[in-house]
Amino acid sequence: MSRIDRLRRLLGGLAYGGDYNPEQWPEEVHAEDVKLMREAEVNLVSLGIFSWAAVQPEPGRFEFAWLDRIMDMLADGGVRACLATMTASPPPWLSALHPEVLPERADGTRLWPGARQHYCPSSPVYREHAARLVRAVAGRYGGHPALALWHVGNEFGCHVRACYCDVSAEAFRRWLRDRYGDVGTLNDAWSTAFWSQRYASFEEVLPPRTAPTFPNPAQQVDFARFGSEEILACYLAEKAILDEVTPEVPATTNFVPLARTLDLFAWAPHLDVVSYDSYPDPHDPLAAPRAAMSYDVMRSLRGGQPFLLMEQAPGAVNWRARNAPKPRGVMRLWSWQAVAHGADAVMFFQWRQSRGGAEKYHSAMVPHGGAATRGFQEVRALGRELADRPGLAGARAPRADVAIVLDWQSWWGLEQEARPNADLRLDELLFSHYLPLYQDNVACDVVRPGDDLSGYRLVVVPNLYMVGGHDAANLERYVEGGGTLLMSFFSGIADPCDRVHLGGYPAPFRRMLGLRVEEFWPPARDAGVALSAEPGEVWPEGLAGHGSLWAEEIVPEGAATVASFAEGELAGLPAVTRHAFGRGAAWYLGTLPDPGTMRKLLRHVGREAGVRPVLPGLPDGVQARARRSADGTLWYVLLNHSAEEADVALPEPMRDDLTGADPLDRLRLAPRGVALLRPAG
Ligand code: GLA
Repeated sequence: MSRIDRLRRLLGGLAYGGDYNPEQWPEEVHAEDVKLMREAEVNLVSLGIFSWAAVQPEPGRFEFAWLDRIMDMLADGGVRACLATMTASPPPWLSALHPEVLPERADGTRLWPGARQHYCPSSPVYREHAARLVRAVAGRYGGHPALALWHVGNEFGCHVRACYCDVSAEAFRRWLRDRYGDVGTLNDAWSTAFWSQRYASFEEVLPPRTAPTFPNPAQQVDFARFGSEEILACYLAEKAILDEVTPEVPATTNFVPLARTLDLFAWAPHLDVVSYDSYPDPHDPLAAPRAAMSYDVMRSLRGGQPFLLMEQAPGAVNWRARNAPKPRGVMRLWSWQAVAHGADAVMFFQWRQSRGGAEKYHSAMVPHGGAATRGFQEVRALGRELADRPGLAGARAPRADVAIVLDWQSWWGLEQEARPNADLRLDELLFSHYLPLYQDNVACDVVRPGDDLSGYRLVVVPNLYMVGGHDAANLERYVEGGGTLLMSFFSGIADPCDRVHLGGYPAPFRRMLGLRVEEFWPPARDAGVALSAEPGEVWPEGLAGHGSLWAEEIVPEGAATVASFAEGELAGLPAVTRHAFGRGAAWYLGTLPDPGTMRKLLRHVGREAGVRPVLPGLPDGVQARARRSADGTLWYVLLNHSAEEADVALPEPMRDDLTGADPLDRLRLAPRGVALLRPAG
């Protein structure tokens, strides 16, 4: 039996629970914890994430008795543990004995103990102490009946994205030696002929520390690669011990809300299951589509395998400037949204709201006010609802019609200073392309540019700045073979060493796009550029929209103009083009169209490519996603994100599993309402 099958069997359905920090509470509270967990149908808790100081109060002394009691108590109560390796926050004695484990910023500032994650990922001293701890924990609890899953570290790279200390510098040099072999190759890759940066030996190379002006961009991209791999090495060192001691127990680590720090495609093969921490902002009107996009990334990292929503807030967080609670029903709605996108777990930070410490104003499943609060009532109701639907666990999303391309390496290249526009943010650009698909209920997978694209009807490529020959050829082949592709500006500009592809921008895609770009004309901050098009096939009513962030001079070489810039230096020149190429078509955006224009455009391109929504004709604000169980049952989760009741017409009679009502071909969904539908036939 695979590790994941074992986990699924142990849990018997979707996982439900949260971070459990019993060391913050006296023993009498623990008994109430288990009682309330049972009431809320909690079946999994993330235990011991910040327990290093509690289990190893001194270098040579482990203190496991308290944790033995907790593990036994959980086992007796039928609650499983996602037990942490406890390495996320070293105890004060470690940095007191070995100050060199503390990380340094680019400007040389040392990050002191007193919060968490205060370790240099390259520190051999940190790694050695972490390994000793992991071995002790795994040895102690590897055979414990409560143990279901290992939780390695916590949110790797969350606070310390990179360390610039001397130890890290040495590790970076080793990494560069491995990558380039000799210093001449490094000089070439980093274009060090520029600004007299030529290195005579690897010994002279440093991390991109704070410098008088822009540090070398290729060095920055390599440092980001190194950083992602170095933090991965910390994870892998712990994972190797767990694999050795408990070969049958799966391991995971929780990824932070979508961020550029770690190349998650490179990490994902090393996890048995992907875990994700999701914190949409209740004040943000676009919170639901943003969360949807990040769930699609998480589900896609391991080829559609269900992921675990390891953390979300039951109500408010405490780390934004204004921390809004989730209005009534929103916690349930957003939890079901994660399930709709492929989550096999609905977990929270945290079980019981802390009394002291930096997170005491962060909501929890059991709030300061206890079990009588609205918060706990909603937690309990959702727990029961999920526990009654074990068949959803393991169900996979059917393959989407659309793939959206995300490449972390290119992200590192794109978001630097000294660019035509230094305000480009890949996550925002990705979202601008994702939103219109979401609004039209089109399901979407997330892929790398080099992945197999053959089954997709449409591939969307937002701003793929840095690209290598293999990946570029893969995208071109996809279109040539009959695919439809939509690419946005500033794609295919640089190679993986951030050197411009010569031969006219964007050299690797010119043939496919049927154009060349002569010059970049980003508008002023907060200014836009008007777009226009005559009524026609793409814009039946004509187009009077606008673009922002970017404009450029496009010279068509076979591509047809679909919309033009309507003002300024580029007036009358193409802004959006389409090129019939091979058996397919390549669309190109030379600006970021406003959301309405983007939606019309993607709708048209999608129709041309034969893209279908998950369910047709849903009212605005109602989202649908599908999952198919191993037994073939197709489930549709319907989510009403609007504040109005929605009247939904279904394409065939379906039964709502949540109400148990007779099969219907029409459905009224309450504001923030959820339905779990199965075709009746
Ligand atoms: C992260 C961490 C948790 C907690 C929450 C609060 O996700 O993993 O330990 O700090 O944030 O939102």
